[in-house]
Amino acid sequence: MSASAAPILITGASQRIGLYCAERLLDDGHALIVTYRSERDGIDRLRQRGALALQADFADEAGILAFIEQLKGHTDSLRAIVHNASDWLVETPGEEAAAFQRLFSVHMLAPYLINLHCQPLLERSSPADIVHISDDVARKGSANRSAYCASKAGLDSLTLSFAARFAPQIKVNGIAPALIMFNPDDDAEYRAKTLNKSALGIEPGPQVIYQSLRYLLDNPYVTGTTLTVNGGRHLK
Ligand SMILES: NC(=O)c1ccc[n+]([C@@H]2O[C@H](COP(=O)([O-])OP(=O)(O)OC[C@H]3O[C@@H](n4cnc5c(N)ncnc54)[C@H](OP(=O)(O)O)[C@@H]3O)[C@@H](O)[C@H]2O)c1
Repeated sequence: MSASAAPILITGASQRIGLYCAERLLDDGHALIVTYRSERDGIDRLRQRGALALQADFADEAGILAFIEQLKGHTDSLRAIVHNASDWLVETPGEEAAAFQRLFSVHMLAPYLINLHCQPLLERSSPADIVHISDDVARKGSANRSAYCASKAGLDSLTLSFAARFAPQIKVNGIAPALIMFNPDDDAEYRAKTLNKSALGIEPGPQVIYQSLRYLLDNPYVTGTTLTVNGGRHLK
């Protein structure tokens, strides 16, 4: 497949969905810049295949701005930005405000500032895309993870606003997954309960997110849309 010379930036690519998408983008011939917070084996694999890996922590404004500065030192164009980095933070009693601020920073402030500062870089590529990875839970709310859920709902709203603001040069879309991959420490009871929430009842794996990302990158007539990838959770 022929691909733009401008690199695709994908955040939080050291493991799981981000790492899988990064590897598939390399397979498809894209130049790649990835961010990571913790040094993991996956980042080394990406480096060995030619990806540029930049360390970044999006927990506060200073970390986000430092990353943008660092990024601009390496490239003056981008084919796409995939905002995948995410914190699955527990909202511990007594520490709710700190958790809310961190989730807001990772899920909303980082995409917001990176999109604003990188608009000129994206405009040097045609086509150009931004993809926000949010979460299907934003559709109905969450009793246990209300700050996580609110910050992902805010990200869905940013998809609409940036799609209007950046048209027609840059398409801006979202992907809202429900269960894609369990965490290794999820127990049997949690797994059974979670699988039962969707009509299709499977753990699909990260390829369904790559299929959605590929569709958004390749389709010239879709912007301001969030793709639901939830196995039919809304049907139950
Ligand atoms: N997995 C699912 O079933 C599922 C379901 C619904 C939605 N999603 C969404 O899909 C995306 C990928 O999911 P995943 O399960 O692969 O996520 P994950 O395993 O939790 O990985 C997310 C990455 O984000 C990075 N990150 C976390 N906090 C950060 C911070 N403060 N600054 C910079 N990077 C930070 C982490 O970096 P380090 O590892 O380097 O520390 C991590 O590698 C996320 O947006 C998630 O919300 C996933």
